[in-house]
Order: sequence, then C-alpha cells, then structure tokens
Amino acid sequence: MSSFGFGTLTVALFALVCCSEPPRQVFLTLQPTWVAVGKSFTIECRVPAVEPLDSLTLSLLRGSETLHSQTFRKAAPALQEATATFSSMAHREDGHHNFSCLAVLDLMSRGGEVFCTHSAPKMLEIYEPVPDSQMVIIVTVVSVLLFLFVTSVLLCFIFSQHWRQRQMGTYGVRAAWRRLPQAFRP
Ligand SMILES: *[C@@H]1O[C@H](CO)[C@@H](O)[C@H](O)[C@H]1NC(C)=O
Repeated sequence: MSSFGFGTLTVALFALVCCSEPPRQVFLTLQPTWVAVGKSFTIECRVPAVEPLDSLTLSLLRGSETLHSQTFRKAAPALQEATATFSSMAHREDGHHNFSCLAVLDLMSRGGEVFCTHSAPKMLEIYEPVPDSQMVIIVTVVSVLLFLFVTSVLLCFIFSQHWRQRQMGTYGVRAAWRRLPQAFRP
C-alpha cells in the first residue's frame, strides 16, 4: 500500500519536474505599430519553450482589460513554442493604453504552482486618417496652382519674345530710314 503511494508520488513528481517548463520569456508584437483609426492591427504573443501546453493560458491585454484568452491542447511531448494572436480595429483610445501579454502556466492540478510571466508593455500609435474628400480637394488645389504657375511662366516667355521682336522691328525701321538717301526723304 505504502509502496503504491510512494510510486504514485514519484510518478507525479517525475511528471512535474521532467515535463514542465515555466514561461520565462513572453514576447509581444503589435503589427503595425502605427495605425489609422478604423484600420486593423494585430497583437501577437509568443512564448518560446513552455511545457506542458495544456496548462498554459495566454491572455492579450489592453491596460487591465483582457481582449483575448487562448488555451492550448496537449501537443507533441517536446518543448513547444506557444503563440496567440488577436486582430482588432484601432480606436482613438487605443493610443492611451499599454498592450501586454500574460502567460499563466497553472500546474495546480498536478500538485505544482502557478507561474505568471508578463511581457513588456507596448503602445500603439494612433493617427487620424485624412478623409478621401479632403485628399481630393488638396490634390485639385495643388494641380490648379501648378497649372497657373506653368501658364504664367509660358505667358511671360511669349510676351517677352513678342516685345523683343517689336523692339527689333522698330529699330529695323529706323535703321532703314537712316539708310534712305537724302533725296528720297521728305
Ligand atoms: C505604459 O508603460 C510604460 C512603460 O512601462 C509606462 O511608462 C507608461 O506609463 C504606461 N502607460 C500607460 C498609459 O499605462
């Protein structure tokens, strides 16, 4: 009886020590980090080398609010990388919160403890998109200004050429007058 109990304890301890690896590092990625209001962004949490996966929960947080929680089924017996992703639409207030990821490895049911590891917090940069109608107005105004500029340069050129020709024309007449023999002058 006692040997059975001892054996069970040994097996339980072996299972706990041999096959558990608390999450040591938790990496959080925001993609993209600079996003317009109303556009989507993705939060990804990655925990390398954690075991057992079926005792792990990854929570993606905005401030203290949980956006998404992910649990895992038992996978291959080797050390596993666990990832959780969540996509969301950017709101104005998202820029005022830190995003983070919390990895919890709960070994209570196996007679162990609960390991909690937090990722470093990350912030999202939110900007107001330029409305399409405003963009059209800006493009139109710039085009008109460019057109006016090019036209005025062209007109300047044409008028200066014209003026020079008239000057030349006047000089030409005077020179011809000077060359005219005295007899023909009035
Ligand atoms: C976000 O995290 C940084 C770094 O830990 C901290 O300095 C900042 O105050 C936090 N911002 C908010 C809004 O919690």
